[in-house]
Amino acid sequence: MALERFGVSMDAELLGAFDRLIGQRGFENRSEALRDLVRQALVAAAWAEDDAAVIGAVTIIYDHHQRQLVDELLDIQHDADAEIVCTTHVHLDHHHCMEVIVCRGAAKDVRGLAARLAGLRGVKHSGLTMSGGAAPLP
Ligand code: NI
Repeated sequence: MALERFGVSMDAELLGAFDRLIGQRGFENRSEALRDLVRQALVAAAWAEDDAAVIGAVTIIYDHHQRQLVDELLDIQHDADAEIVCTTHVHLDHHHCMEVIVCRGAAKDVRGLAARLAGLRGVKHSGLTMSGGAAPLP
């Protein structure tokens, strides 16, 4: 792949902050750091597309004593537009469970699933990680 060079102008303060970031993250030079940032921006833009094929991990921490919560969690997963690949359940303590729900599908469906789970009463923490590169659904 041919490398192309281009000049970048930026104020000294911003460049100083960029150089500190480069040091913290261990990039070898500004070019490498800039390439990484550009790739991140491109991936983020792709995931922002509703129909982009993604794989996601929804992590939730909840109180399993909350009335009907476990039933609701299961109903939502069985009816999800995103495909549930697998789930991992960890009993954290007497009250709390952690569940990691690996799913794939269109970005909008994965985001929708995560939002529905996160919004349930008794869910105390939730997070969503998405990656691109999932094979398109048949
Ligand atoms: Ni549990």
